Amino acid sequence: MSHELLKIENLQVGVEDKVILKQLDLVIRSGETHVLMGPNGAGKSTLGYAIMGHPQYNVCQGKIFFEGEDITEESTDVRAKKGIFLSFQNPEEVPGIALGNFLRVSREAVTGEPPRILAFQKEMKSTMSALEINPDYAARYLNVGFSGGEKKKSEILQMLMLNPKLAILDETDSGLDVDAVKVVSKGIRQYRSENNALLIITHNAKILEGLPVDYVHVLANGTIAHTGDSSLIQTINEKGFQFLEAGGVRN
Ligand SMILES: Nc1ncnc2c1ncn2[C@@H]1O[C@H](COP(=O)(O)OP(=O)(O)OP(=O)(O)O)[C@@H](O)[C@H]1O
Ligand SMILES: [Mg+2]
Repeated sequence: MSHELLKIENLQVGVEDKVILKQLDLVIRSGETHVLMGPNGAGKSTLGYAIMGHPQYNVCQGKIFFEGEDITEESTDVRAKKGIFLSFQNPEEVPGIALGNFLRVSREAVTGEPPRILAFQKEMKSTMSALEINPDYAARYLNVGFSGGEKKKSEILQMLMLNPKLAILDETDSGLDVDAVKVVSKGIRQYRSENNALLIITHNAKILEGLPVDYVHVLANGTIAHTGDSSLIQTINEKGFQFLEAGGVRN
């Protein structure tokens, strides 16, 4: 049965002394796919970071709940253990830790127990194959020297191996070639179930192929200024964000 995973109430987020998000409310239930759109610099990545608990993004007001628990003050690793995952818009290179080891350590950190090595390696190999990632990459340092598209695929590999309850994908489609978008979309469809939820930040919506979208939100002026169904994506693609303001939308 569907249940409330994420609930954001009256959120205000600042970086240094600048307010980026304000009066933001959002509820995501299990089984749902939400899409977040909005102009460059509107604060979409900031919302992802705030949900994940990035220390640079200060929650000055409001609350974030996950499965009914107030996580506003919790650290990023606690949130990850509770089942929240963020795929970065610009994944960082981490020299010194191999992708395969990183996945294993992350799995152990999230589940609280060491995975069975052979089963884990088999699972990792088949997931890499499904995402058309060269298996040799498991031994390479995390994202170091990976191309832009390879970094995005490595993020989706992490999502599939960690199987979070809520996956936030920040512009995973940007930088992916036309075939890679299809492969990654398939991976996302494979992940999706009635027990988890997706918040997909995107500009071009290519990644949504074959994914039923429940809600489309537009972030503007620091808040969710408009929410609609999947038809809103096409309207935005045709008319841009201007028409929403022209329609006297709350901001
Ligand atoms: N660490 C930071 N330091 C200073 N300013 C920041 C920081 N992070 C975000 N900002 C500012 O906050 C605003 C929102 O940025 P954010 O990255 O959330 O936008 P976005 O909606 O994700 O944009 P895009 O579509 O270009 O990815 C921008 O004006 C940005 O410059
Ligand atoms: Mg962004």
